Amino acid sequence: MSTPIETFIRNIPKAELHLHIEGTLEPELMFAIASRNNVPLNFPSVEALREAYNFSDLQSFLDLYYQGMAVLQKEEDFFEMTMAYLKRAREDRVRHAEIFFDPQAHTSRGVPFETVLDGIHKACLQAEQEFGITFRIILCFLRHLSAEEAFATLRGALPHRDRITAVGLDSSELGHPPSRFAAVFEEARREGFRVVAHAGEEGPAEYIWEALDMLKALRIDHGVRCMDDEDLVNRLRADQIPLTVCPLSNVRLRVFPEMRLHNLKRLLERGLVVTINSDDPAYFGGYLTDNFLAAQEALGLGPREIQTLVENSFHASFLRQEEKERHLADVRRYCENNAPLTQP
Ligand code: ADE
Ligand code: ZN
Repeated sequence: MSTPIETFIRNIPKAELHLHIEGTLEPELMFAIASRNNVPLNFPSVEALREAYNFSDLQSFLDLYYQGMAVLQKEEDFFEMTMAYLKRAREDRVRHAEIFFDPQAHTSRGVPFETVLDGIHKACLQAEQEFGITFRIILCFLRHLSAEEAFATLRGALPHRDRITAVGLDSSELGHPPSRFAAVFEEARREGFRVVAHAGEEGPAEYIWEALDMLKALRIDHGVRCMDDEDLVNRLRADQIPLTVCPLSNVRLRVFPEMRLHNLKRLLERGLVVTINSDDPAYFGGYLTDNFLAAQEALGLGPREIQTLVENSFHASFLRQEEKERHLADVRRYCENNAPLTQP
């Protein structure tokens, strides 16, 4: 039996702003695609692979993440993975998804950029038509590679810019500060892309300053380490810079030792624009609703806080204003219909 707050969380319309599509590749689908493409895997079974999902930090996850996505070779592989995520997202009442992809992790294996983007984009279009889920696609540069390689990727993306809303920065954070990518992000902004960046997941608050001041990031992915720097918290609040926080990811990658110690509620209390997201749900033990449920239970979030988190996501999205308002009206209507929970 679900409690009233659980039912409220399950059914509230949601947006997801921090989701690596390659991180939605479930072991079952990975094995199916591997066998179709004749790609050997380093694990004898789905169960053995799942057992290896016991991470000590970001890098220990990334090592398996890049191995796993190497089964993806054809457009249909990217289509199938993306469609599987969108079907799962529909069950979680996700109404809008902003999806990251890591083109360099595929082009470096000889898979053309178009193959990757076509598969992802076709699935998004189909889900928009069939499920009514709106979407945006965000190209992430891998920060463990060079700025020159990021530039080459940006150039490869220019013919497809009608399908790519923003650029981001992900992969191994420590030792790879955003400042190294200032020029490529400047070029991306000149070409009309919006900008986001992972910062302050494992890396220091200084990387968040750099993402804001040197990359001109409009949102910070994770950003939980901002609390180490009071001036930074004040800046994030003053500019209402959204943080795309990923609770289950943070616990699985040991950014926080347990959910009860996550700072999400304190970030909200400090007036920051916090959102909840799933990051790499196939690896971290849960999709978007699971992230809300885990944070709610461990931190004692109330229904008004859940409503704020959800509304923050739609406000912080790259949707057009009228699309945001349509989604936000649905959230408000849902909360009014659950008035005994949401009224003070
Ligand atoms: N790529 C996929 N998931 C990531 C994460 N949590 N941090 C950095 N890069 C990633
Ligand atoms: Zn991420």
